[in-house]
Amino acid sequence: MTLFSTLAEAGRIRIAHYGMALGAAAALAGPFLRGAVGGAAGKAALGATLGAPVGQRRLFALQRAFTPNLVTAGQGIRAYDNSGTAVVTRHADVVEVLEREADFAVVYEPRMRKLTAGENFFLGMQDGADYTRDVTNMRAAVRRDDLPSLVVPLAAQRARDIMAAAPGRIDVPVELGRRIPLHLLDRYFGTPGPSEAEMAEWTSILFWYLFADLEANPSVEARAMQAAASLRDYLDAAIALRKAQPEHGGDILGRCLALQAAGQPGMRDLDIRNNLIGLLIGFVPTLAKAATQALNQLLERPAALAGARRAAQADDDTLLAAHVFEALRFDPVNPIIYRRAARDAVIARGTLRAKRIPAGTMVLAANLSAMFDPLAWDAPEEFRTDRPWDQYILWGHGMHTCFGQHINRAVLPQILKPLLAKDGLRATGPLDKGGTPFPVRFVVEWPAA
Ligand code: HEM
Repeated sequence: MTLFSTLAEAGRIRIAHYGMALGAAAALAGPFLRGAVGGAAGKAALGATLGAPVGQRRLFALQRAFTPNLVTAGQGIRAYDNSGTAVVTRHADVVEVLEREADFAVVYEPRMRKLTAGENFFLGMQDGADYTRDVTNMRAAVRRDDLPSLVVPLAAQRARDIMAAAPGRIDVPVELGRRIPLHLLDRYFGTPGPSEAEMAEWTSILFWYLFADLEANPSVEARAMQAAASLRDYLDAAIALRKAQPEHGGDILGRCLALQAAGQPGMRDLDIRNNLIGLLIGFVPTLAKAATQALNQLLERPAALAGARRAAQADDDTLLAAHVFEALRFDPVNPIIYRRAARDAVIARGTLRAKRIPAGTMVLAANLSAMFDPLAWDAPEEFRTDRPWDQYILWGHGMHTCFGQHINRAVLPQILKPLLAKDGLRATGPLDKGGTPFPVRFVVEWPAA
């Protein structure tokens, strides 16, 4: 590249950057005005705009351009102790926060200990011997080579069976999205729970409590404590029952017990139970939510939906996955990932947007914003299926990147494949979260073949 073409390219990207911000400002002006002068109804409309992923993307576009790293003394999150809030929006800075694990630490430990009635879980730990031991143990039980041999065939078959029995319409989160991970809890984990409904309910409220209860709502905590006690009791009994059998079996629970029998440290019954609690919370509500939200985004884009349908009908899993993950970029399960500054730290050092973040500040690394940053992403507003996979930040980044990332990558397209293969697919109404962090109803239908 010549100096001239480099400068021209830099100029084009900057123009796109500020162009996005101005477009966002224009789109948000109306709702903000209505919010300012429209009384309760106007405020509710503004809340709805900013609560929707498209509203959040617009707000982030403005922040990215004008105050990319915002630090305030306000405490936006009450669930975990903090002395202020920082919102980090550019791709480079979001990645920096998530990679500087010693400076920006995970916060989940106190709530994790409440759920296990004592112990921490590795998502709540900083780098250290316990973290390495627990992740290593669980990786020995949840193996990557299970995907082609076991996990994908189980998920694909279950999705096909559900769709074969569906009468021209389906409520995606309840009748499809969560039933695949629940099936895997049974056949792959060996911990089906007393019923699918209870497992879905327990894991959802626990996820809500750990990750989405930003205001520390006492009723969420009360429900989570009850669900955690039930899940602990169930898992204790399942472990005891399996140990009483002569063969432990080849599923995840059986493998954990085999590691215990071999004298592996960190694999007492209690350790196995607590690790399973952490994994189950990550497993069910997330996959169900991701499948539903990705489908919703596809349904809003006819060309993308047609592309996904062709890929599903042609059994082209790679192309189908590219559609699903690009759709999820527009409405990821976690739009922000939060950390707390363990000590005073400067981010984006040496740039004009460098910011000092005081110790104790809650740092919201806005991965949704990062994935729309035109300084890092080519034409981020476009739906494209040729983006490099490792650029996405759909399930974290750095040391705590999702333990289930390969499962997500393999299973999500399988959940949606037989549905996306239908001609004439359409939503009967909007995706409904029913006041929770999860889709609780999203009915789609298709004409008889
Ligand atoms: C689409 C589905 C999923 C999404 C969107 C998702 C999202 C995430 C995110 C954002 C993180 C990082 C949290 C942070 O850094 O604060 C994470 C970590 C984690 N996830 Fe997932 N997850 C999904 C599926 C799963 C599955 C299937 C499992 C279980 C096999 C799982 C287990 C975990 C665990 C154990 C961690 C902690 C990893 C560590 O601390 O090293 N997740 N996930």
